[in-house]
Amino acid sequence: MIYIPKAEYTRRRKALMAQMEPNSIAILPAAAVAIRNRDVEHVYRQDSDFQYLSGFPEPEAVIVLMPGRQHGEYVLFCRERNVERELWDGLRAGTEGAIRDFGADDAFPITDIDDILPGLIEGRDRVYSAMGSNAEFDRHLMEWINVIRSKAHLGAQPPNEFVALDHLLHDMRLYKSAAELKVMREAARISCAAHVKAMQASRAGLHEFSLEAELDYEFRKGGAKMPAYGSIVAAGRNSCILHYQQNDALLKDGDLVLIDAGCEIDCYASDITRTWPVNGKFSPEQKAIYEIVLASQEAAFAEIAPDKHWNQAHEATVQVITAGLVKLGLLQGDVDELIASEAYKAFYMHRAGHWLGMDVHDVGEYKVGGEWRVLEVGMALTVEPGIYISPDNQNVAKKWRGIGVRIEDDVVVTKQGCEILTGGVPKTVADIEALMAAAR
Ligand code: GLY
Ligand code: MN
Ligand code: MN
Repeated sequence: MIYIPKAEYTRRRKALMAQMEPNSIAILPAAAVAIRNRDVEHVYRQDSDFQYLSGFPEPEAVIVLMPGRQHGEYVLFCRERNVERELWDGLRAGTEGAIRDFGADDAFPITDIDDILPGLIEGRDRVYSAMGSNAEFDRHLMEWINVIRSKAHLGAQPPNEFVALDHLLHDMRLYKSAAELKVMREAARISCAAHVKAMQASRAGLHEFSLEAELDYEFRKGGAKMPAYGSIVAAGRNSCILHYQQNDALLKDGDLVLIDAGCEIDCYASDITRTWPVNGKFSPEQKAIYEIVLASQEAAFAEIAPDKHWNQAHEATVQVITAGLVKLGLLQGDVDELIASEAYKAFYMHRAGHWLGMDVHDVGEYKVGGEWRVLEVGMALTVEPGIYISPDNQNVAKKWRGIGVRIEDDVVVTKQGCEILTGGVPKTVADIEALMAAAR
């Protein structure tokens, strides 16, 4: 398996602390365990910010960073070892493991946090936290602050400033390191294999979930703990539902199937969409729509490079899709006017992509000072244009209705332009038909 190395977590903590104001403290909680039903838990997924700074995979933990502190800048509160609980739920790092394996300078039992943390906060001017994203933790934080305030008459100094940590941390997360790209390439590689498998397995008479099973098998076999988001397997008219997740309809001869799915490796997402004919052969209408979406994606790739801004790729897809729809007679009028009036949105109603990283819709600002962000080396994003012709669209001939096509790849900005991470799954009509024919 490919993981983020321990040294990188150290580097990230140091980089964050270097940006924090003097005499400040940052406090971040681990993700809570989510209950699925009664006493059954969801598979645990660490909070992305917490993971980014620690690699520590357990719940009930709190990271404390105190730049410049002589007795250690990185303190981790975590669960203690417990023979009885570990017999039922699995091993815990414990405070010793937190220091030995996860690089903490000091570690304390999470049960002692109310006694210890106010003392660590006391005397620091500023507290950095993800305010507003975890109501329960915000409440705890205020309790700890109030403990200090209650001792003010004894000379205790509560902090005066509370700062949102997101701004610093999320900007760091936007730029992917070499180690992060290695993990993202691995997630992409496994997800490509999964899409190929699903293409090969595609047959009329199966169900959408039959193809989802092929994806899950490849994800898990590749070492992914789970998909990066709920897989979308949408056949026929379901392909026009953008976030379709029912995945239980029949695959019918003559229909397209749209699959939007990617796995997660070491908390890094991949996000791929391919659309193909259930029976392995595109109809003329399906092909016509498909070729426009593919051309628009190619046009978008050409607009991804350092010094181009975030929206240029989107604008390129809008241009190609609108012109293509006019050419097919699905839109009537002047291309520029149809773009200005946003008439294309009846068919292409989402944006061409989003940042990609630990979260599938990753953190990072899209605008800076009111202007679209300029792309820089190391930023990772998706490119995912689509055309969706509603089954109920009375303005177009019947033969077009219910066709939905999206093509989505993951890229990272390089010095020269961009590297496509998800090139391992066929995309042209000819390549898809050839792959499917060979599997019959
Ligand atoms: N799978 C979610 C997206 O493509 O944005
Ligand atoms: Mn996406
Ligand atoms: Mn997607």
